[in-house]
Amino acid sequence: MGLKEEIAKRRTFGIISHPDAGKTTLTEKLLLFGGAIQKAGAVKSSKIDMHARSDWMEIEKQRGISVATSVMAFEYEGMKVNLLDTPGHQDFAEDTYRTLTAVDSVVMVVDCVKGVEIQTEKLMEVCRMRNTPVISFINKMDREGKDPYDLLEEIEGRLNINVHPLSWPIGIGKNFKGVYSLYDKSLRLFQPSKQRLYEETVKLSDINSPDLEKHIGEKDANQLREDVELLQDLYGDLDVDAYLNGEIAPVFFGSAVNNFGVKELLDTFLKISPKPLARSTDERLVEPTEEKFTGFIFKVHANMDPKHRNRIAFLRICSGKFERGSNYYHTRQDKKFRISQATAFMAQDKETIDEAWPGDIIGLYDTGNFKIGDTLSEGEKGTYKGIPSFSPEIFREVINRDAMKTKQLEKGLNQLMDEGVAQLFSYELGSRKAVGVVGQLQFEVIQYRLKNEYGASADFVPIQVHKACWFSSKDPKKLEAFIDSKQRHIARDKDGKLVFMAESRAWLQMVQDNFPEIDFHFTSEF
Ligand code: G4P
Repeated sequence: MGLKEEIAKRRTFGIISHPDAGKTTLTEKLLLFGGAIQKAGAVKSSKIDMHARSDWMEIEKQRGISVATSVMAFEYEGMKVNLLDTPGHQDFAEDTYRTLTAVDSVVMVVDCVKGVEIQTEKLMEVCRMRNTPVISFINKMDREGKDPYDLLEEIEGRLNINVHPLSWPIGIGKNFKGVYSLYDKSLRLFQPSKQRLYEETVKLSDINSPDLEKHIGEKDANQLREDVELLQDLYGDLDVDAYLNGEIAPVFFGSAVNNFGVKELLDTFLKISPKPLARSTDERLVEPTEEKFTGFIFKVHANMDPKHRNRIAFLRICSGKFERGSNYYHTRQDKKFRISQATAFMAQDKETIDEAWPGDIIGLYDTGNFKIGDTLSEGEKGTYKGIPSFSPEIFREVINRDAMKTKQLEKGLNQLMDEGVAQLFSYELGSRKAVGVVGQLQFEVIQYRLKNEYGASADFVPIQVHKACWFSSKDPKKLEAFIDSKQRHIARDKDGKLVFMAESRAWLQMVQDNFPEIDFHFTSEF
């Protein structure tokens, strides 16, 4: 198979949801279809156990497990599906944001009882920034949930995206009888069962067929006909291009735990979802079909064994063919590296691979050369864009508690930052350093890992910072004047970019008003 064919058969996507909506369950069912696992319950994904949600030690343990499930690849009906896992815990949201830069589309799971939840809202914002195509799966239809029309309205209103139902539920909760596929005009009958793999499908000549009454009774048949007519008027046929542009989200209804609606989702997903797409470097748009290999690192995972300081860097291939043993050009370091070890991820197993194609995710063994956002190529200098840092929510100053271990602390901090565990800001004045995180738990993880892996002791003491804002100006003189007047609050991020550490919301507003020529940005890419 040539490059074009390899690309055409690949689908690389992530599942997003608020914790508990059913991401793990859906993942597992998809893997069952792909034959990647044999029975339900086999996936221990990065899902953090209910009781462990606030227990960072437990989370730390699961970090080890989650390497194996960071990427789950499987073959299904001649397609190669790469499913990227995204941590559900909100404190590690930034990890999820970065993973979303490596996918071509997203499946969003919504719990029909709870509707749209906060974490889904945040994740969808990231998808909207990049116009990532999204398919929504409304889950747990076997429960007494919200009215399906209300759910659609909620998605449109709160997630700022148009919806287009491709299936429609017949009843809900105890009365849930199945779904009618608006896409292929068939009826899928629901029978609660955690074991069965295939649902009963009835092909109807059309919605007026008397067969409908036979299967779901007169009352539901009438209601369904009414609904279908209304939906047809409201939505018409799916505009696949609008989906591919991230403007419309097709919607399915089902019950993941009962394996209901999952195959329908997967089959339709494979038909309409995008194959690996062209991506931009800071120099140009790179087509996946270009012969020359390029790719970027979106995740770095340190080994759990502190004695061997090797790490796995996750590389998304963007163009050309990757060949193990080749020398590839590292654009940040401006030098070539021979990549002699690479792994593919097949569900829970890792295996050495010799070649990989656009859309694939491979793991590179690393001794400290790779950082998140690094680009590899065959010599071209362009660096892939699109791995922004967001301003963290909580800031603390790093206080070294063991002067003998200053070097170790510095090294540990740098390496943890390369992994994207948190963000480090170094103040221009003095040697103060601040660490910014999304959630409190991250500090505990950092402190523990610094001690455990680097032998360094540090405290993190609260400081008065509300937001870290990257800034720029068209006028270099004004920029200089701004930096001069705010010296005590100017720091640099890990890439040396200038950041203004704003103490409070009100003060930030005032500074913005006073310096109209300065542009303030809340992500590192602008
Ligand atoms: P997450 O990864 O998004 O956090 O969610 P997960 O799949 O773990 O699902 C959360 C809970 O919801 C699980 O129950 C799961 O069994 C249940 N669930 C998933 N899909 C459905 C569905 O279609 N209908 C119903 N009624 N429940 C569903 P749990 O009690 O937390 O765990 P377990 O002991 O059942 O595994």
